[in-house]
Amino acid sequence: MSPNIFEKKGTSSVFRNRFTLLPEYTPEELPCRDKEIDQLVENLSILLEPSHTYAVNIAITGPPGIGKTTLTKKTLGDLKNAAITNGINLDTFYVNCHSFRTKTSIIRRIATDKFHIQGRGFSDEELLEMLAKRLEKENQRLVLALDEASMLSGKDILAFIHMNELFSSGIGRLSTIIICRRSEWSLLLSADLSGRIQDQLSLEGYTSDELKEILTYRKNLAFYDEVISEDVFDLIIEICSRTRNARHGVEILLKSGLKANAVGQGKISAELVRAAKTEVYPELRTDIFQDLKKNELVAALSIGRLLLKPGKVSTTVNESYDTFKLISEENKLKVQSIATFRICLDSLERLGIISHSVSSLPAGARGRRSKITLYDIPAQILVERVEQVL
Ligand SMILES: Nc1ncnc2c1ncn2[C@@H]1O[C@H](COP(=O)(O)OP(=O)(O)OP(=O)(O)O)[C@@H](O)[C@H]1O
Ligand SMILES: [Mg+2]
Repeated sequence: MSPNIFEKKGTSSVFRNRFTLLPEYTPEELPCRDKEIDQLVENLSILLEPSHTYAVNIAITGPPGIGKTTLTKKTLGDLKNAAITNGINLDTFYVNCHSFRTKTSIIRRIATDKFHIQGRGFSDEELLEMLAKRLEKENQRLVLALDEASMLSGKDILAFIHMNELFSSGIGRLSTIIICRRSEWSLLLSADLSGRIQDQLSLEGYTSDELKEILTYRKNLAFYDEVISEDVFDLIIEICSRTRNARHGVEILLKSGLKANAVGQGKISAELVRAAKTEVYPELRTDIFQDLKKNELVAALSIGRLLLKPGKVSTTVNESYDTFKLISEENKLKVQSIATFRICLDSLERLGIISHSVSSLPAGARGRRSKITLYDIPAQILVERVEQVL
């Protein structure tokens, strides 16, 4: 009998715990974010005082991969535990707006998950009112974290904040933490919204010393001792210091570890790190493609396939729609209208996967020209990742 394929593997892995390098893992410690943690505690701890009646609204902004999401999740977890210890009826709710893209779907998700209210058939306003009633009845406070908030409009975010006006007791029961990349925050911000934000945490990219501390911690969680030599580790730090992005380092650790296992090397060499580096796109959340709808995946694939052609830098709506139709037929999917296709393009743009610009044609010619390009990810990688999900 041939040996079990799972038993054959495994013993020679470089990983002590590979799971700790996956995007869904939230580390227990967050080195180099002490100041930000203190600032959040300062803002939120008033919610643990029984007599406190105001809601708190905070924004967390900054470049990609610098711990905004991780900091938020850790804070929510600790806040909830502290509330239990202090006998305060407080709950937390984390939403990634890449997955729940509209105000309506977020409100429905809170209604079903928290209160088992089926949201269908109710308007947003009616549902918010029902939620407010339940919070009031149960004398509860809720801290809602809206991650990737730029998927919503400033008006949508205000609708959540304004829910506090529905409480007859006058207690602001719904607090918010609004998280987004800094460039997108300025687009979201209106005078109305900024007037409601009590504090904004502007996180900066990590310095190379900070990355060293962070990635030493992550390396020791994930790998057996002596898998990565000091020289090789320095190389990883040097690479991600250029982007100041911790995700960059974490992904290189994971990819080069997998490569070391694949070749049965037992150690991570500089060569493997250099190979891993070319496969990592630190601005792109790795799980972003999991959140795409089928039509959006096909739209992304059609653009990726077109831009794979040598020398091709951009495409147009009409051209990519033709490919979209072909791929839909190939995959036996219903061929959507060009209007639906344009909606898919808008979503892909808002998610930062493609860039879609429209410019007027030169004088004399009629109409406008649309130009679709990819942001910072090569067409080959886009095609591979989308095909994986499809
Ligand atoms: N201080 C830190 N200590 C340990 N790990 C960290 C730290 N900061 C970031 N990381 C890790 O780096 C990765 C990226 O962090 P995170 O997802 O929180 O970034 P982000 O700022 O939300 O990025 P984005 O804008 O792309 O959503 C995660 O794997 C996270 O665990
Ligand atoms: Mg994030």
